[in-house]
Amino acid sequence: MTTESLAEVPEFPMAREARCPFDPAPGLYAQREQGPLTRVRLWDGSIPWLVTGYAEQRAVLADPRVSADLSNPGYPATVPLPAGGVKRSFIGMDDPEHARLRRMVTAPFAIKRIEAMRPSVQKIVDDLIDDLLAGPKPVDLVEAFALPVPSLVICELLGVPYADHDFFQDTSKTIINRTSTPEERQAGHQALHAYLDGLVGEKLANPGDDLLSGLAERVKAGELAQDEAARMGALMLIAGHETTANMIALGTLTLLQHPDQLALLRGGDDPKLVASTVEELLRYLNIVHNGRLRVATEDLEVAGQTVRAGEGLIMVNEMGNRDPGAFPDPDELDIRRDARRHVAFGFGVHQCLGQPLARMELQVVYGTLYRRIPTLKLATELDRVPFKHNGLVYGVFELPVTW
Ligand code: HEM
Repeated sequence: MTTESLAEVPEFPMAREARCPFDPAPGLYAQREQGPLTRVRLWDGSIPWLVTGYAEQRAVLADPRVSADLSNPGYPATVPLPAGGVKRSFIGMDDPEHARLRRMVTAPFAIKRIEAMRPSVQKIVDDLIDDLLAGPKPVDLVEAFALPVPSLVICELLGVPYADHDFFQDTSKTIINRTSTPEERQAGHQALHAYLDGLVGEKLANPGDDLLSGLAERVKAGELAQDEAARMGALMLIAGHETTANMIALGTLTLLQHPDQLALLRGGDDPKLVASTVEELLRYLNIVHNGRLRVATEDLEVAGQTVRAGEGLIMVNEMGNRDPGAFPDPDELDIRRDARRHVAFGFGVHQCLGQPLARMELQVVYGTLYRRIPTLKLATELDRVPFKHNGLVYGVFELPVTW
């Protein structure tokens, strides 16, 4: 690139203040017009590659010549990092270290184990809906339903006391808020780490039948440091509640704003349609937006161009999921389409560990909510709903509903 064209590189569009609040940032559509691989400018003046094409995103994310380790020079940090960096768990490591740690926690997320949890998740959902129906209205669906469902489930699975939910929900809010200062984010990571470290310590003394106790066993056996176990626990606690909560609230709002699609869902008691609704909402909303971040460790070809070793790559999955080459009429919500190949859970070795759990929870929610509350509706105007424009995970802060 010439110096002149470098100066013209547009800023990375991160906020979705769009014509439609469910669509990716308008600037990303403009980038895509220029091709599947372009450049964007970050807050620190760096100009990593932006990958908007579906096929190109999957190719990069599956390529062992890219690294997810943010301590690598050239890593495209989309928000300022604290001085001294951040120590992340296996989500920020490369194989073989990533695989060593991830393997220790794959069994509890296997489909069979997750399916065995379905009845207890159904009970959690039914009990919360009973409370909703018995309580005052309008009510904030985020506070009363969307946050408690995945928080209760991940607490049960990990062995974290649900009584501490205010602490871990608030802390993760700070961590995934783009406008938090690096120091605030660092303090959040440290507080959560100390909390999980304490819990792993307790499980060492009094093991239970939960995931953290399993990790404590490995600490005892000398396979894992307590520090690593705490970091893994913190990763799963944040990833396990915040994302699914946003999918529940934003997905509910999306369906309420698409009455034809909601009528289809309500019309049948078909688990297959519920499952395809969940996949389509994941594709359409792609809440973990603002890119999967990687840095090339060797030269590689992407979309016919050479990405040099040390250059950053940002795979904006919200655009991959709106690629007309992969999904016809991608900007339309169509719950009958087969959207299972979406990249809302990422792709490659870091593809979401918790996806069987997230899918099952969302299927229970979307198969139950409108059946139990058929007249559910928004209790405010759409333009008064506060969207998480400042979030690394997209969603709504509040969703006032009535019935
Ligand atoms: C709808 C809900 C969810 C969405 C949209 C989602 C999305 C994602 C995405 C996009 C990634 C890839 C990150 C990357 O490549 O850099 C990821 C990774 C991950 N997710 Fe999820 N997630 C969800 C729910 C969950 C749940 C319930 C858990 C439970 C613990 C979880 C645990 C993880 C973990 C541990 C990773 C890191 C995997 C690795 O690095 O190998 N997620 N998730």
